[in-house]
Amino acid sequence: MKFSLVFVAVLLCLSLVRTQAKCTYIEEYCGTSASGVVVHWKWVNEAEGLIEWTFNNTGSSDASVILNRGATYNGAPLVPPYVFAAAYFPAYLYDGLAQYFYGKPVPLRNYQADYDLPIGMLKVDDDFWTVFVFTLAPGQVFKMEEGGYIYEGSNIFPYCQNVDDISYEGSEVFTVEYDAATQCTEFDSTQPCPPKKFDVGSAWYSIKKGLVNSTNFWPSAGDKFYLNVCAEEMPYRKAERANIASVDRQQLLVINQQVRSAVRRAQVSSDKRVKRVL
Ligand SMILES: *[C@@H]1O[C@H](CO)[C@@H](O)[C@H](O)[C@H]1NC(C)=O
Ligand SMILES: *[C@@H]1O[C@H](CO)[C@@H](O)[C@H](O)[C@H]1NC(C)=O
Repeated sequence: MKFSLVFVAVLLCLSLVRTQAKCTYIEEYCGTSASGVVVHWKWVNEAEGLIEWTFNNTGSSDASVILNRGATYNGAPLVPPYVFAAAYFPAYLYDGLAQYFYGKPVPLRNYQADYDLPIGMLKVDDDFWTVFVFTLAPGQVFKMEEGGYIYEGSNIFPYCQNVDDISYEGSEVFTVEYDAATQCTEFDSTQPCPPKKFDVGSAWYSIKKGLVNSTNFWPSAGDKFYLNVCAEEMPYRKAERANIASVDRQQLLVINQQVRSAVRRAQVSSDKRVKRVL
């Protein structure tokens, strides 16, 4: 009797372990912003290291959030948390994965899963960083895939530090400098990269003090973002297909006339949605 109970218990454990191993589509909780944007992730394809993030605005107003996450390997930290897009944003720009947007943020559109996601400038203390800006209307759900959750042949796992609200503060022209080797060719050596220094019109955002202290990860160590005070005389790029609130359209029309596009527009194919962490 005792023996069979133990046996049953062992069998149960085995089947639980098995079930768990097969449960690759269970959603894992990541975090919730103060405004109520809840983020989960799940595997889409473990062998390819592909996950899907789900953003769900359970709050009662539009919210813009950032995702601050890293990765663990064998249960130990591997990639320190940094804000999604801070690494490889120059590659994303030329891949057609991301684009700076000028003007107030408006809720993401579904097609943005297949086209460019908004990146913007996040001001942390006295520095600016480039980050993905996820803006969702109340009740809106937005999903995106991210690849690269493989390291030395094994899966690595997202480690969520936080999902934080950010506030739109205005739109300016910024000068961006970055290291092409680490921020672009490391991501995709076959694609052309933006000039190592370029000007761009972008929305910028503030965040509550202490939530994020930096978004520096080794590929972005050489990044510099600064306000371009000679904006009127400088060429810069505006976001095509821009996510522009109507209040800024007039301003944008004026700006459009000065625009000289320095950035190649890329056709987006579905595999380009896949982003690498490492
Ligand atoms: C989003 O959150 C709401 C409220 O908690 C919930 O009812 C809904 O099922 C969630 N949707 C998804 C896709 O997670
Ligand atoms: C940022 O720095 C402050 C002060 O040192 C600290 O209390 C806070 O936990 C840090 N935040 C993060 C996300 O590391």
